[in-house]
Amino acid sequence: MANPDKFPTSLVAGIAVTLAVTAYLVLPTLGGGPDVDMSEDAVLQRIKPIGSVNTTQAKPAPAPAPATKQEKPAATAEEEKSTEGTGKEKPAEASTNTAETKAASTSRSGEEIFNASCTACHSTGAAGAPKIGDKEAWAPRIATGMDALMKSAINGKKSMPPRGTCMDCSDDELKSAVEYMVSKSK
Ligand code: HEC
Repeated sequence: MANPDKFPTSLVAGIAVTLAVTAYLVLPTLGGGPDVDMSEDAVLQRIKPIGSVNTTQAKPAPAPAPATKQEKPAATAEEEKSTEGTGKEKPAEASTNTAETKAASTSRSGEEIFNASCTACHSTGAAGAPKIGDKEAWAPRIATGMDALMKSAINGKKSMPPRGTCMDCSDDELKSAVEYMVSKSK
């Protein structure tokens, strides 16, 4: 027969270990963690994809920011019209086509384009580029007219690369950049 004194000791120890392990495994799943919202909405929110394509049709879980953005112009259009008149880049059709409004309002200024894409050559004279502010270098070019300058800017000219390397510039943005350079060089 086994030592009677030993039996209860190992039984108690066994129960204690079992309880500890069970608690360790089970407790976290009971939502004991700090402020972890396990509601379905919260979980979906956490595991949803980072980006979503706005198809303008109702989407299952619209992110808060775009939703309010889209509602705002419509809601405040009246107020803005009466308080601000027609200023800024918010024409009347703004509320009807958010996509176009966005494209228009993200159009960069001539100065921004110049500093991003043109300055490398046109501030240093690299590759024989006429420097911004160099009136003598620009005068004969300006004399050829804006159309000719734009043609060179879009298609390139000798060492001047097409679109001045700004391949994502719209024609309008390129034109602002040329106008900026010209305005600083007369
Ligand atoms: C890699 C260097 C380089 C970059 C970058 C560059 N240019 Fe030029 N650009 C030149 C050179 C060189 C010329 C002179 C071309 C010639 O007439 O031989 C020139 C000329 C021009 C002219 C005058 C064209 C004419 O018909 O006389 C315009 C306008 C112009 N660039 C606009 C831009 C704009 C706008 C950008 C930026 C979006 C830009 N360039 C970026 C090198 C560059």
